[in-house]
Amino acid sequence: MTTPATRTDTCILAADRAGIDEAMHLILGGLPVAMPTETVYGLAADATSGEAVARIYAAKGRPSFNPLIVHVAGLEQAERIGILGETARALAARYWPGPLTLVMPLRADAGIASLVTAGLPTIALRASAHPVMQGVIAATGRPLAAPSANASGAISPTRAAHVLASLGGRIPLILDGGATAHGLESTIVAVDEGGLRLLRHGPISAEELGAGGLEAGPIEAPGQLASHYAPSKPLRLDASTAEPGEWLIGFGLVAGDVSLSRDGDLVEAAAKLFDLLHDGDQRAASRIAVAPIPEQGLGAAINDRLRRAAAPR
Ligand code: TXA
Ligand code: MG
Repeated sequence: MTTPATRTDTCILAADRAGIDEAMHLILGGLPVAMPTETVYGLAADATSGEAVARIYAAKGRPSFNPLIVHVAGLEQAERIGILGETARALAARYWPGPLTLVMPLRADAGIASLVTAGLPTIALRASAHPVMQGVIAATGRPLAAPSANASGAISPTRAAHVLASLGGRIPLILDGGATAHGLESTIVAVDEGGLRLLRHGPISAEELGAGGLEAGPIEAPGQLASHYAPSKPLRLDASTAEPGEWLIGFGLVAGDVSLSRDGDLVEAAAKLFDLLHDGDQRAASRIAVAPIPEQGLGAAINDRLRRAAAPR
């Protein structure tokens, strides 16, 4: 195991005014903080900063990038980030704040880091009913990306002690707000022209959504979601120089046409990954090449995504 750059002592504070203030300072400084929601504890970071979001992945040791849920204060903030249709508004009016996540098209001017959506044109939004999550959103004025606050592969934490056992030494702060009410992640529903699709079971059941006059289609298993952005052009990995017709995305000593990080910083590289893949797609070159990325820390997740993007389709 390599020691992540963010390794630090983990402090646990009561989720009172002073605790929320401390969380605000850390989050505005680009660090992730664990805090309760009504479902499970989340590891929250500023969704407008790619580097802050990269530090969520670094702390969790997650071997791949998946789109994350963004927590908002309510409908007004959601409207600035996503495009809500009538159905999404009706669901938000009925279930927010609460354990319901809505997946909808992302606004072009949302200002959300591309690592949050893993490059997708859609975004998952939820307004938590928990006063601590609400308090930190209000204090920072930022939308917060927050997956469950556990190391990759571990079960979701419902108490501060669970977070400490899983992420102790890897995050600066846990706000202790006691045990969570549901202990189960939020229900996720995609809302698009096709209607409603239940993407994840959760505290609000399919029956309940149906009883609200809203028709739930078949459940999509998370693994089957078309939730992975890949460039439309062929992608060559481990390239130290560009071949004719290639747009080279560099890293470290491989300069390239553009660079994920000239300093070889994996947090910076993760933050830029999807932006530079989109950018490469838009260039005149017919193919994209990417410099070698070390398979350590966040590099594993970066390489996982690059290998998927390079796989024949
Ligand atoms: O209860 C919860 O929802 C917790 C607490 C902390 O709020 N959060 C949580 O977040 O479970 P996260 O980021 O682990 O959930 C991500 C789920 C994944 O299954 C992902 O595929 C789905 O949300 N998701 C996120 N954005 C999506 C998108 N644009 N399209 C489809 N699915 C999306
Ligand atoms: Mg989880």
